[in-house]
Amino acid sequence: MEIVPLASAEEIAHLAADTIEDLVRRHPAAVLGLATGSTPLPTYRELLRRHRAGRGPSYHAVRTFNLDEYVGLAPGHEQSYLATIHRELTDGLGIDRDRVHGPDPADLVTAGQRYERAIAEAGGIDLQLLGIGGNGHLAFNEQGSSLASLTRVKTLTRRTRADNARFFGSIDEVPHHVLTQGVGTILRAEHLVLIATGAAKADAVAAAIEGPLSASCPASALQLHPHVSVLLDPGAAARLARLDYYREVYADKPGWQRL
Ligand code: F6R
Repeated sequence: MEIVPLASAEEIAHLAADTIEDLVRRHPAAVLGLATGSTPLPTYRELLRRHRAGRGPSYHAVRTFNLDEYVGLAPGHEQSYLATIHRELTDGLGIDRDRVHGPDPADLVTAGQRYERAIAEAGGIDLQLLGIGGNGHLAFNEQGSSLASLTRVKTLTRRTRADNARFFGSIDEVPHHVLTQGVGTILRAEHLVLIATGAAKADAVAAAIEGPLSASCPASALQLHPHVSVLLDPGAAARLARLDYYREVYADKPGWQRL
């Protein structure tokens, strides 16, 4: 795992944006896996800022796959993750909506298999951007999720619903269920880029990186993947026992450009 302790959320946004742009320049038809929630927003704003300034690559041939989707929201609901990613990133980058995918809650019996097939038919995900829940969830694989799971319906914990109530009027409006890529789905992506900011993520980050591999911390499954980059601000890195070592490794990497 590449643990990259950075000085601020802004530095994370720059490095994550560099990494995405670098991939799209090398592979104009790259398949990007996208996270929603608050953490990736500075990265998305940075990508849009560069694109609008005419400095980004062309995204016309890119395809994207969201990590997850709420079940039970009205189609087109502004808090659905598909509507969110259109609004926060893909429309602004000029990616045709036909190329922007999310798990489809229309038919829950077939949704998981259909999503897995769509990802496979696209050739798999080249770069998967990830956040982490304060309880260690990865996408919406809550604690106890199978580390081999594929896309399916999951029930959100009360904590996750409370965390996400800020996007809705109240916790009562946050759906109880989601469709989420499984941990096994995520592990199939070529390169995983986890970003975490703020002290509220410190325990989950430490458990994911330095704790035992366990379904009690689904994000610990990252330890099984051959190419993971973890971008942390000081708050999120604060509980890492080997932080000094990670700093040393990062400082040693001459001309670090590419994750
Ligand atoms: C969102 C997702 C979640 C979030 C996590 C952190 O698509 O899969 O795992 O990444 O809940 O959310 P924020 O970034 O809002 O703290």
